[in-house]
Amino acid sequence: MDWPGKRGSHPIGLLGLGIHLPERVMTNDEWAEYVDTSDEWIVERTGIRTRRIAGREESTADLALAAAQAALADCALEPADIDEIVLATDTPEVFIPDTAAYVQARLGVGHIPCYDLAGSGCAGFVLALDIARSRTLADGRRVLVIGVELLTRLMDWQDRNTCVLFGDAAGAAVVGAGPGAVEIVAATAGTDGSKSDILGVEAGGTRLPITVERVQQGLHKLVVMEGREVFREAVGRMSQVSLQVLEKAGVSMDDVALVVPHQANLRILNAVARRLDIPEARVFMNVQEYGNTGSASVPVALWEARDQGRIKPGDLVLLTAFGAGFHWAAALLRFQESPGIDSGC
Ligand code: ACO
Repeated sequence: MDWPGKRGSHPIGLLGLGIHLPERVMTNDEWAEYVDTSDEWIVERTGIRTRRIAGREESTADLALAAAQAALADCALEPADIDEIVLATDTPEVFIPDTAAYVQARLGVGHIPCYDLAGSGCAGFVLALDIARSRTLADGRRVLVIGVELLTRLMDWQDRNTCVLFGDAAGAAVVGAGPGAVEIVAATAGTDGSKSDILGVEAGGTRLPITVERVQQGLHKLVVMEGREVFREAVGRMSQVSLQVLEKAGVSMDDVALVVPHQANLRILNAVARRLDIPEARVFMNVQEYGNTGSASVPVALWEARDQGRIKPGDLVLLTAFGAGFHWAAALLRFQESPGIDSGC
């Protein structure tokens, strides 16, 4: 459905943006101490050189809270100014209830509605932006959107096929209507549930409940992944959904200053650039430094792109993401000519 992009005279979009990265940096050489791998293999196949690892004392809500506070500070808002929280994660604080409830209590907002988008994979944050935009449009809510992942806590540190790919991080955005908002011009998303068994963690739900035997087999942290098929789908879907959102907004790829994709793998990002027929310089990449941080990867990349001065006033910026499900989502942002989030409120 096409939404008008404004509420009253103000655009609806991102009022503030914040991130949180755990301090500990882990190199590829360190991974080679745990599994049979090498810096050379990881760099050649994925481009990843380092990733952040959450400390033992840190959990999902800690990272989410820190990113949320940074996003609020970015636009000089208080927790009391927030009307709703939507948090995307595949690595929740506990199984029940959702992580958003923990963040709500610790942030000190009122009894506002809060919920997780769980299991939506790496597409979760962009999908949540679209939901937040519709909530603002419907009744003027200011929504705190969080993408957070402690993927290194979930996975098996003995499985070289997956463990070297991931990292921990959180990113958050305050979505609402305001004169300086980075307008969400258009957004779109899709799902192909017939591919749900190609990427995911099978044990722990009702199909394969946790038993001692399954834990002994390590099934509770076995990331099932058909790497090549995931690679193909990620390139195809991120490219396709990008073109769909551009069509919805009535603009072309030539109008887009920067593409900020989900940071899965450098080769995937290069292939998306080729598929979209744009130079790699117009695709923001920081997977080399942080690995794949799931639903946190797009807000962290967007924050860094802004921080590094890669986005200028008036620029159109395209977010595109793909993850387990398979889910995919894209959003087109317009940075304002006048001071706002692009100059840090
Ligand atoms: N170190 C050394 N060797 C490894 C490692 C490792 N860390 N991991 C796997 N291998 C070996 C395998 O055991 C296998 O060996 P074999 O041939 O003797 O059986 C071989 O490398 C696999 O080689 P390829 O299949 O040719 O590897 P490929 O070039 O496909 O790269 C990779 C694998 C990196 C997983 C790639 O398929 C990929 O990036 N897929 C996308 C996966 C992804 O991004 N997942 C993230 C979640 S989804 C998302 O965010 C979009």
